[in-house]
Amino acid sequence: MSAAETSLPRVLVVHGPNLNRLGSREPHIYGRQTLDEINATLAALGQRLGVGVDAFQSNHEGDIIDRIQQVAGAYAGVIINAAAYTHTSIAIRDALAALTVPVIEVHLSNIHKREAFRHTSLMAEVVTGQIIGLGSAGYSLALRAMAEMIPAPVAVA
Ligand code: DQA
Repeated sequence: MSAAETSLPRVLVVHGPNLNRLGSREPHIYGRQTLDEINATLAALGQRLGVGVDAFQSNHEGDIIDRIQQVAGAYAGVIINAAAYTHTSIAIRDALAALTVPVIEVHLSNIHKREAFRHTSLMAEVVTGQIIGLGSAGYSLALRAMAEMIPAPVAVA
C-alpha cells in the first residue's frame, strides 16, 4: 500500500450472515452479483472517491461485534448489512451505538415488503441512515453518501 493510500480515510463495510452466498442465494430476492463482485465495485468506487474500503463478512455474531469494536481510530465510517442479525441482534446494535463515526445500514431487498419479522431493524435507531431495497446499487450509494459525510483526507507532505 502506498503512502498516499495510507493517508486516505477508510470505510469499513460489514456483511452479515449468508451474504457470502450472494449470487446463488435466492437470486430473485438478492440479485446475481456475488459478494466479491460487490466488494470489488466498492473498492474501485472508493479509489475514485478518495476513500479506502475494507470489507468484512462473517456468519458469526461475536466476530461481527469484534470487528465493529476495532472501528474507533481506524475508520471514518461504517456501512453495514447485518443481514438476519438486523432483526435479532441487540449486541450488534449496542456495538454500533458505541461508535462516533457515521454508520449507514444497507439492505439489498426491501425488508418492509417482505415477511413481518423483517420489518423491524434493531439497528435503525442507532444508524445515521438506511438504504433499502435497491439491490447491490445500495452499497455504492451508501459509499457515495459516506464520502460526502467524512472529513477530507489528510494531505501528505
Ligand atoms: C437482508 C435482509 C434480511 O432480512 C435477510 O436476513 C438477509 C439480507 C438484505 O440485504 O436484504 O440476509 O439484509
